[in-house]
Amino acid sequence: MPSLSCICKIFLCLSLLAKSSCPGNVLVWPAEYSHWRNLKVVTEELVGRGHNITVLVHSASLSVNATSTSALHFETLEISFTAGELQALWERFLWFWIFEKSQLSFWQMHSTMRSLSRSSTTLHRQICNGAVRNRKLLEKLRSSRYDILLTDPVIPCGELLAVMLRLPFIFTLRFSPGFAFERLCGQVLAPPSYVPAATSQLQEKMSFLERTQNLLLYFMHDMLQLLVWKEWDSYYSRVLGRPTTLCETMGKAEMWLIRTYWDFEFPRPFLPNFEFVGGLHCQPAKPLPEEMEEFVQSSGEHGIVVFSLGSMVHNLTDEKNNMIATALSQLPQKVLWRYKGKKPGTLGTNTRIYEWIPQNDLLGHAKTKAFITHGGTNGIYEAIYHGVPMVGIPMFADQPDNIAHMRAKGMAVELDFNTMKAQDLVDAVNMVVNNFTYKENAIRLSQIHHDQPVKPLDRAVFWIEFVMRHKGAKHLRPAAHQLTWYQYHCLDVLAFLLTCATVTLFIIVKCCLFCCKKCGRIVRKRKTE
Ligand SMILES: *[C@@H]1O[C@H](CO)[C@@H](O)[C@H](O)[C@H]1NC(C)=O
Ligand SMILES: *[C@@H]1O[C@H](CO)[C@@H](O)[C@H](O)[C@H]1NC(C)=O
Ligand SMILES: *[C@@H]1O[C@H](CO)[C@@H](O)[C@H](O)[C@H]1NC(C)=O
Ligand SMILES: *[C@@H]1O[C@H](CO)[C@@H](O)[C@H](O)[C@H]1NC(C)=O
Repeated sequence: MPSLSCICKIFLCLSLLAKSSCPGNVLVWPAEYSHWRNLKVVTEELVGRGHNITVLVHSASLSVNATSTSALHFETLEISFTAGELQALWERFLWFWIFEKSQLSFWQMHSTMRSLSRSSTTLHRQICNGAVRNRKLLEKLRSSRYDILLTDPVIPCGELLAVMLRLPFIFTLRFSPGFAFERLCGQVLAPPSYVPAATSQLQEKMSFLERTQNLLLYFMHDMLQLLVWKEWDSYYSRVLGRPTTLCETMGKAEMWLIRTYWDFEFPRPFLPNFEFVGGLHCQPAKPLPEEMEEFVQSSGEHGIVVFSLGSMVHNLTDEKNNMIATALSQLPQKVLWRYKGKKPGTLGTNTRIYEWIPQNDLLGHAKTKAFITHGGTNGIYEAIYHGVPMVGIPMFADQPDNIAHMRAKGMAVELDFNTMKAQDLVDAVNMVVNNFTYKENAIRLSQIHHDQPVKPLDRAVFWIEFVMRHKGAKHLRPAAHQLTWYQYHCLDVLAFLLTCATVTLFIIVKCCLFCCKKCGRIVRKRKTE
């Protein structure tokens, strides 16, 4: 007999059928920083459409605020370390990428990366334990009858939890290094001849040497990933009680929502269960706070420059600080700088520092001439959306690649954070402001971005609702998931064909030899007669 809640749900569905989907129960396993800010936009849209969202947040989370008065529900996991410890790991990671990496040799770099990755795995496994080893919580989650789980694979565990709860799940991601998750677990293709490996900073047209470098990079990333994954493979097997791997579990994702689009990407192959939803968080600009609007208006015809190195980098060295402030003070524009560190001594009168800026609204302001950015995907998309040319100072993760793409599309000038001088920054800003090609390209990309049949946020929500309605999207799954590596590359077929050819050749040769011998014997016989 159907329960009361079930009947209620059917009734609600019928009444809602005319305009939208049935209200669903959605579980979210979030990541940190910009990853969460992007996913949050999707969850808020889902709430707006009547779905019930529960976010699983651990007690040391740096970005998910479980006490906030939003319409989301939160379920807190108690874990044994503090937010301070997690923050320390991130800072260590940032320090390595921004300041240390360029001074290390190849092997030193890789051994540091391995050790950082090991610390990260240890902490994140503890977070995972907080969910998958907590029987009471699992019981509660099971009884809540969720329809779907949304997660970001940048940190493992979401997919494991989904498998334990028998929920269909959807990934949202920018990329994994070398597209390893997408290729090896999602079965998407990335021919190394024309698809630059993620983190390679290469562009689509590659020379022979670049293609060589690209192929080696794919190989190197696969090897590194396999090392990192190994630690998770045994963990996943232990938790699920059967031999499995991280990659196999990830491969069960119903949909992959990729946070880019063809305005940004170089054209490359993808699968029907991959949807490109870049820029889903972008919105038309809202009015600025009064004080900020006054400052922006005071810029006159020169306009303003918006400067942010993202939410993670909140403290620079004094030397960098002063160098940047000196450069900014030489610009004719007014500058709004998002920065939390110490106020630099050389700050010009045209520059104002803010702990937080409404970045999307500023980029959409008519007076905005340029955006100086670290190249995070969210910021890049806001600039594309509003058609603002950029000066990129990439630092880590996807940022160097993002700026390389924008450079290839003629919308950005790139600077090296470690070697740049004040004059380089001044020249770069002057270049994107005064050389009209950058603005033209920015407007062209913006037009491409806006000219889509369905907006990215609506597409993301459509696929989430689709998976809830149909309990998955199995019809989009390529059969490649069921093949072994030798079947995938048709090695068994090739081996079979080769064997056939060899046997045939052998028989033909044997026959010929036999015939020749026979003929020879007849000829000899005739001669002797
Ligand atoms: C929404 O989810 C929360 C947490 O699981 C639950 O307490 C609440 O009853 C749900 N609401 C509805 C309308 O299903
Ligand atoms: C979390 O949200 C609450 C309510 O909106 C707010 O008072 C609090 O300062 C926030 N905490 C953090 C760490 O942002
Ligand atoms: C910022 O960096 C300085 C030195 O580089 C350090 O003394 C200070 O504690 C840092 N501040 C924060 C908030 O991290
Ligand atoms: C403007 O930028 C384009 C693209 O980088 C470059 O080819 C061109 O020479 C620049 N023009 C001037 C006047 O600097």
